[in-house]
Amino acid sequence: MSYLMSNYAPLKVNFVKGEGCYLTDDKGDKYLDALSGVGVVNLGHCHKEITKAIQNQAGTLLHTSNWYHIKHQEDLAAKLCKLANMDNAFFGNSGAEANEAAIKIARLHARANNIDNPVILSANQSFHGRTMATLSATGNEKVQSGFTPLLSEFIHINFNDIDAINAHTDNNNIVAIMLEPIQGESGVIMPDSDYLNKVQKICNDNNYLLILDEVQTGIGRTGKLFAHQYNNITPDVLTLAKGLGNGVPIGACLAKGKASKLLTPGSHGSTFGGNPLVCKTAITVLDIIEKDNILDNCIKMGEYLASAFKAKFANTEKVVEIRSKGLMLAIELNQDCSGLLQKALENNLLINITGKSIRLLPPLIINQDEADTIITKICSLVDAL
Ligand SMILES: Cc1ncc(COP(=O)(O)O)c(C=O)c1O
Repeated sequence: MSYLMSNYAPLKVNFVKGEGCYLTDDKGDKYLDALSGVGVVNLGHCHKEITKAIQNQAGTLLHTSNWYHIKHQEDLAAKLCKLANMDNAFFGNSGAEANEAAIKIARLHARANNIDNPVILSANQSFHGRTMATLSATGNEKVQSGFTPLLSEFIHINFNDIDAINAHTDNNNIVAIMLEPIQGESGVIMPDSDYLNKVQKICNDNNYLLILDEVQTGIGRTGKLFAHQYNNITPDVLTLAKGLGNGVPIGACLAKGKASKLLTPGSHGSTFGGNPLVCKTAITVLDIIEKDNILDNCIKMGEYLASAFKAKFANTEKVVEIRSKGLMLAIELNQDCSGLLQKALENNLLINITGKSIRLLPPLIINQDEADTIITKICSLVDAL
């Protein structure tokens, strides 16, 4: 009997130790982690420099309050804003909280423009979190099921469909468009390469805020620090979490221009958000990404994995499509493959299954031997289907 609520259905394995791309369970068995705690542990488990930074900070100062000046928070905000070409930052504890802040900024943008019933366009098959506002933004009825009434301010449009957005531009209540650059939870769904540029033009022409949710695609996952940098655009609002703390809970909402001027003292906050421990950790994460050329490795190993899978699966009708950007990969099959999750675990490999797709988000530090192990194991799992 478990005293935990039943909202998860965990696999029967208990990990007790992590190192680099590997986890070890309580029986001493080692597993190759091709999921990184769902895109979180981008620099691998228990990275030595990050562990040291956490230990030092934990022994110096964990928490004060946002009622006082926090130097590491200022430094992290400056670093992120310089890297993302944004103006300022708010810190929470998760992706959902980062997106909540973004949605509240959109509401204030509405107030500033005398719009009383603001509407945000977000995409079908999107995922933005589990709080009531982010659940309402999420375009997935399965995730929303049981939780109505939702916030009515979201209209869901088809992803990668500019006409679907243009069909709403005569609605004067629209204040923002909120999108993932690549839809992660729905199986690494990629838009056309110029989609975000076109969306940004619509936002500029109509005074909408462009809110990009890079909770999953950010912090190097796609081979650029932020996926939207492939489009050479700057959003009005950018949300981050997952890889930012490499396992320490932190979310960030960055804003630019008019969007950066809307929050005022007392208008938003978080008790834990941006405390010295998480900010020092995130600064260390960003330093390592730069110093160790992590983005180069991400691109190199992402291309290595994708081209190996394309070659191996070229002549099998079981594989419908391989989608990848950096180390965000999906192999879409022609059949339900939910059973592969357990089979992969039995083969000491951690993956995710999303619909008919195998989803891989390995640590960005992965080397060629580890990539070869993933390729061999995935190929034999697919062959056995
Ligand atoms: C794109 C995106 N946004 C938001 C979230 C929610 O993040 P969190 O679970 O940290 O609240 C996720 C989580 O998977 C995500 O992938």
